[in-house]
Amino acid sequence: MTRMYHNLPVEAYTSQGWFDREQRLIFSQTWRFAGLAEDVPEPGHYVSVQAGLNNIFIVMGRDHRLRAFHNICRHRGTQLIRAVGKTQKALTCPYHDWTYDLEGNLISVPDESTEYPNGVDKKCFGLKPASVDVWRGMLFVHPDPDAPSLAAWFGDVDPHLGPHKAEELVEYPEARNAYEIKANWKIVVENYIDVYHLSHLHSKTLYMYDHGKAEYGWKGPHYHFWEPPSAEYSENLEKNLPTPRVIPEPHVGAWVPMLFPGIGIGAGEDSWNLFIITPLAPDLTRIENRTKLANASQWEFQKQEWSSWGFWKGFGGAKYEGKDAMNENDPMASGDFTTEDIYACEQQQKSLTSPYFEVGPPANGESPVTRHQQAVLDFMTAQETAEN
Ligand code: FES
Ligand SMILES: [Fe+2]
Repeated sequence: MTRMYHNLPVEAYTSQGWFDREQRLIFSQTWRFAGLAEDVPEPGHYVSVQAGLNNIFIVMGRDHRLRAFHNICRHRGTQLIRAVGKTQKALTCPYHDWTYDLEGNLISVPDESTEYPNGVDKKCFGLKPASVDVWRGMLFVHPDPDAPSLAAWFGDVDPHLGPHKAEELVEYPEARNAYEIKANWKIVVENYIDVYHLSHLHSKTLYMYDHGKAEYGWKGPHYHFWEPPSAEYSENLEKNLPTPRVIPEPHVGAWVPMLFPGIGIGAGEDSWNLFIITPLAPDLTRIENRTKLANASQWEFQKQEWSSWGFWKGFGGAKYEGKDAMNENDPMASGDFTTEDIYACEQQQKSLTSPYFEVGPPANGESPVTRHQQAVLDFMTAQETAEN
């Protein structure tokens, strides 16, 4: 009998075969977060990102337009560029120096007259385009050059994501970090959207919110969540809330959506945080955090104030040191909700390979967990149907 984890078989969290299907059917078929708009500020700047099976880069052309290309040289397929950077006027492949302009056209082939006596028809060997778009100050790519629009993909959920104007906030670079969690990416997502655990796993770290008043739901495969400050915290709201706020009053609370697949946002009064999930292996997931704050004249002062406050630590500033540190320091006494979450995810993943693993009934506050499992299943089924 297939062992199940609610709506998915346990293999969905442990097997390479399932992981490969997700890479092909989900992560190669959706809009992928590639960075903040300010990562590619001028002509010649670029950033690259893995979108499922595709490595894609965004480059700004001389016309100040953003373009995305598959990061594959048209000669023998070598990756043209790495990570983030600034080039001059052209993109040169490291292998044989075939060179492309910023618009993706092949412009030079070294030793063409001797190596290719019949010449190379350069028009036929431009870089293969992908799609790029900007939403709320974030860059997204899609492997398909004719992808349905980003605005349409997030359109229905957009009104439920809070009043933040992320594109007007400025990044707090010290909060940028990345780490790995030894658990399947869906365990990480499920933990992010599990409302039931908030008052239990995080009883000491997220007490400033009233989880009983949380409002949450779905728009297609995208999850949205909002909760107000707790009564006690609200009493002293003036004092408790940071100045300057990233959202104008009267808005209060935390907006914590999880956009499909694996794009978490955590937005409160003081900061706007990204939680980008990248599956690396069936039992290994990479998280990248980026944080934006109000662009204020009291900037230096605000940063100090803010870095000693709890909310950002979870989203951006947690210094998770891995398993060895965990053995020495009780993660449940860390005072940091991300450390608590990582601990819960990794402990859960460990049990999945046991033949004795079995799940109990989901609580009301776990309905997002089972709904996400269904969203994964539905998305993969729809893609497979479209392929056949
Ligand atoms: S593979 Fe790029 S120039 Fe040969
Ligand atoms: Fe949590």
